[in-house]
Amino acid sequence: MDRAVIFGASRGLGAELAKQACAAGYPVLGWGRKEKALAEQRERDPLFEYRVADFSKSFGQDEAIRYLLGSEPFSKVFLVVGGGPYGLFQERDWPSHEWALQVSFIFQARVIHALLAARRLEQLILVGSSVAESAADPQAASYCAAKHALRGLYASVRAETPDWDLRLFSPGYMDTEMLPKNAAVRSKGVYSPSVVAGELWTWSLTADYGGHRVYPPHPT
Ligand SMILES: NC(=O)c1ccc[n+]([C@@H]2O[C@H](COP(=O)([O-])OP(=O)(O)OC[C@H]3O[C@@H](n4cnc5c(N)ncnc54)[C@H](OP(=O)(O)O)[C@@H]3O)[C@@H](O)[C@H]2O)c1
Repeated sequence: MDRAVIFGASRGLGAELAKQACAAGYPVLGWGRKEKALAEQRERDPLFEYRVADFSKSFGQDEAIRYLLGSEPFSKVFLVVGGGPYGLFQERDWPSHEWALQVSFIFQARVIHALLAARRLEQLILVGSSVAESAADPQAASYCAAKHALRGLYASVRAETPDWDLRLFSPGYMDTEMLPKNAAVRSKGVYSPSVVAGELWTWSLTADYGGHRVYPPHPT
């Protein structure tokens, strides 16, 4: 049976994606740290189930990977989770930077490695960032570094394993909790996570095998 797993499903883009997948009749297993938000989503939608783990910690990552490898294959794996501290690089403490690298790159790399090693080639979609993966992102250096790394990993693994539907979806700025309320880019216009999730979900159902989709183009 077709079903999807979404890492980072309790709010923002991942929560909207879960809603759209369930509306399309896909059972979804959503992961996050905040049980309350996940439980509320479950109340609203019986096709939504959830598990709680912290992917900034190696034991949280281990738990998710063990779960993936021990389950019937999911037709779609979405690695939506990501984030990082805001501020000048030297003014944020090192654990905050380490957190950004763990949740925005190391966890994703470990999932890819584990699925490949187990020859589990279900569709896997990484979520990058149209800005942070391809240009400087002042005040978000460790996040930007992690997103650059994610894009490099995606491109390299794609070249090594062209028979795997490994994709990268790179959104522009969205109106979610992740974007600080006072972020300057908000004045240029940010996108609704629900619209972006609709685009991501529809794209996952199309035949753009192994593709990289940048959506939407960032307003100039
Ligand atoms: N917002 C933007 O402007 C923007 C722009 C470009 C790209 N992106 C990318 O789009 C993706 C989604 O962003 P978003 O704006 O929807 O972010 P968000 O609102 O901050 O949501 C992040 C999701 O990841 C989960 N999460 C965060 N840290 C976690 C951890 N340590 N362990 C487990 N789960 C964790 C959160 O749930 P819990 O809090 O329950 O753990 C939440 O479900 C990210 O990869 C982000 O980098 C965002």
